[in-house]
Amino acid sequence: MKVAVVRTGSGSAEREIKLSTALGLPVVELPSSYSPKEITDFDYLLAYRDSRLVLHSCGKTQAGELCVDFSEAKLNYRANSSIRNQNIAKALGIKGSQRPVVLDATAGLGKDAFLMASLGCEVSLLERSALVYRLLADGLARTEYYGEEISAILGRMDLQFGDLLKFKADAQQFDVVYLDPMFPQRRKSAKVKKDMALLQQLLGHQTDGAELLDRAKLLAKKRVVVKRAKLSPHLGSDKPDIEFKGSSSRYDVYLIT
Ligand SMILES: C[S@@+](CC[C@H](N)C(=O)[O-])C[C@H]1O[C@@H](n2cnc3c(N)ncnc32)[C@H](O)[C@@H]1O
Repeated sequence: MKVAVVRTGSGSAEREIKLSTALGLPVVELPSSYSPKEITDFDYLLAYRDSRLVLHSCGKTQAGELCVDFSEAKLNYRANSSIRNQNIAKALGIKGSQRPVVLDATAGLGKDAFLMASLGCEVSLLERSALVYRLLADGLARTEYYGEEISAILGRMDLQFGDLLKFKADAQQFDVVYLDPMFPQRRKSAKVKKDMALLQQLLGHQTDGAELLDRAKLLAKKRVVVKRAKLSPHLGSDKPDIEFKGSSSRYDVYLIT
């Protein structure tokens, strides 16, 4: 997979150089009018556009772009919609005013973590892809752009770069470990949202789902919640203790006893 950081114009390009060094990627100079569709030397380009970090896929068949923006109307609709949130709230074990401390161990673009933080949970986010981590860190850092309400939610989210399988946490730190792994294999029949399809194309398939579940069970004080597509098989060989089914997804809950 060939990825480059884009530099346009004649400015200092300090942030582009920092980013390329951090990710070990080349910097490519392009005119500000470039179109990712016309780029054939790279599969993906990372560029700052209007102060937001954006990942474009390149070439004629380009699938689109990824950018983490917590002010997105759809995301906030989901966060404010009590019916849609019922299943995730139930899966987390939310009752009354008490809120679990959550480790979202497969943070991705941070959408699920944002929903959990909207419900009032303190959420630690862990992401193992350096590139996805950078996109997410960029989205979380733009607090001045979001306004008070969203910034307060982001204040309950704490991002770390790392792999769950190597992650060291203090015993009893997290009530809930939340997992939303990539799909294990390409299934054309499964409807995947555009941003998740691009993430899948970028990161490939998850082959260590069962190990993730085992590790999560060791870290969680009360429960592990696994998000699955509605008809997907369970993550490991054990059956979950509880399942909450929605229109397109399902939450499998494993209780820690
Ligand atoms: C399907 S995405 C998660 C999407 C996320 N729930 C959201 O709302 O945006 C899965 C993410 O988990 C990350 N991941 C997979 N295995 C991991 C591991 N062992 N440790 C940390 N992150 C992992 C992948 O890099 C990917 O970004």
